[in-house]
Amino acid sequence: MGEHDKAKEPMQAERIRFGEPRRHLVNIDSISTSQLFADCVIVGAGIAGLRAALEAADHRNVIVVCKATLEDSNTWKAQGGIASVLRKGDSFESHIADTLRTGCGLSEPETVEQVVRQGPELVRQLQDWGAGFDRVNGEMDATLEGGHSHARIIHGHGDETGRAIAETLISQVKSKPSIKVIENFFTIDLLTDPQNRCIGIVGRCKNRGMQIIWAASTILATGGDGQLYRETTNPPVATADGLAMAYRAGAVLRDMEFVQFHPTTLYVAGASRALITETLRGEGAYLLDTQGRRFMKDYSDAGELAPRDVVSRAILAQMRKTESTHVYLDVRHLDKEYFAKRFPLISDLCESFDIDVSHDLIPVRPSAHYMIGGVKTDASARTSIENLYACGEVASTGLHGANRLGSNSLLEGLVFGKIAGHAVVIREPMDVTSLKHPAIQYEIPQSDRSRLDTADVRNSLRSLMWRNVGITRKAQPLAETQEIIRFWHRYVMDKVFDAPEGWECQNMLTVALLIAHAAGLRKESRGVHYRMDHTQTDDQHYKKHLEVVRAT
Ligand code: FUM
Repeated sequence: MGEHDKAKEPMQAERIRFGEPRRHLVNIDSISTSQLFADCVIVGAGIAGLRAALEAADHRNVIVVCKATLEDSNTWKAQGGIASVLRKGDSFESHIADTLRTGCGLSEPETVEQVVRQGPELVRQLQDWGAGFDRVNGEMDATLEGGHSHARIIHGHGDETGRAIAETLISQVKSKPSIKVIENFFTIDLLTDPQNRCIGIVGRCKNRGMQIIWAASTILATGGDGQLYRETTNPPVATADGLAMAYRAGAVLRDMEFVQFHPTTLYVAGASRALITETLRGEGAYLLDTQGRRFMKDYSDAGELAPRDVVSRAILAQMRKTESTHVYLDVRHLDKEYFAKRFPLISDLCESFDIDVSHDLIPVRPSAHYMIGGVKTDASARTSIENLYACGEVASTGLHGANRLGSNSLLEGLVFGKIAGHAVVIREPMDVTSLKHPAIQYEIPQSDRSRLDTADVRNSLRSLMWRNVGITRKAQPLAETQEIIRFWHRYVMDKVFDAPEGWECQNMLTVALLIAHAAGLRKESRGVHYRMDHTQTDDQHYKKHLEVVRAT
């Protein structure tokens, strides 16, 4: 084998079996439950789910379900943009090298090539569909972000790139008669047959109650789990549901210890954290501590444009040094009119808190932002369960390794959304209505353990994760965290809830435990996973993925 082939070999993996007795969160009696049929059901309506639907829709009938409305996705909230090689002077090789370097040895080289090389064509297609990416001198405009060696962050409506993309995809989806969208549908679980092949989903539709959707193919595109943390950029819907239901169904999950924190979210006590895009630093914004000192060069030669994990840890260290709750972003030197045009969302946000960006500093601190780990998929978006595909943030394709390069995730969602949709199309066509579905009957025994207040558990869990499984980690707090979650788990997982608040709490506890467990096992620092008791990267023992699968 030549050096080149060796470099493309998949990373090693260690598989852990982890206990969870419950297969489903609710009692199921398929005979008495209302039923729908689809060639393909897609759970989630961010960039990956919608792009998958469009790819499948010319050949298959598709149902897209989402737990809130089409506007409630992480995609919609994305600001900075979508990283892609579309400008003169940039190259695939450079984008690939940046992604691999940032991934700290755990990116899958084949996946990186696949995403980087297929990206530009799909970004252009979005533009043709009307995404209206910003342009300059006849080319798409592009900005720099940390870890990128070229300005390749394509943006739309200034800092409203996510909305530009989501609106475009939604209008394409609405124009396809073969796609049916069901909003306010909470998917509770994946359904599998006795051979453990995925045969659809069960969920609760706000208007119609419990429903089963039988499907020849199921695509999971549920996004991430930012709500596991007290401080997050993610919308309220990001409660780890897809990760938890895939785990319960027996899918292999991997890299769960890798959670990315965004360095700069608006810090106004009492208000939720809002993203302040990294492209602001790409356009020259500085970080100052509360004593007015520009500090990033103390931590990295790349200064404000160091990778996100470095900037997040530097901010945390500087907050400790200055005994402050935050640092500042300084944009006062940027042209006021240009700023308002280039960053309309942030201008409005700051204005709403009486921050005049031409005179005032913007208070910021890091928050949980992106789940790097997820449901393991191959180059065709297939998971370890037959008929089940995954794409977008819920998937672990191997692109990001141990650290995600800013704006690579919209690109990944776009490319792997298309791949998942295509994978569904090239399967043997099946008439799902004539398939013999096994009757599913699942009943959970009554529990006589006390009821905990799930709202309280959820809040306490988010604080616990923030404190002990956050930007920096250590053995003892990680072990304590697992102990506390297991305690809650015992009292919450033995109940049957009939509303999303309960199911979300169960999903959050399940996934939080997987993250804390994996973070405890990786006794080294790599990418976004920083262990204060093991500060070095240990290639000899840990240059590998940690995979986890439910033990029954
Ligand atoms: O800073 C940002 O605009 C975030 C981009 C990303 O997470 O990819």
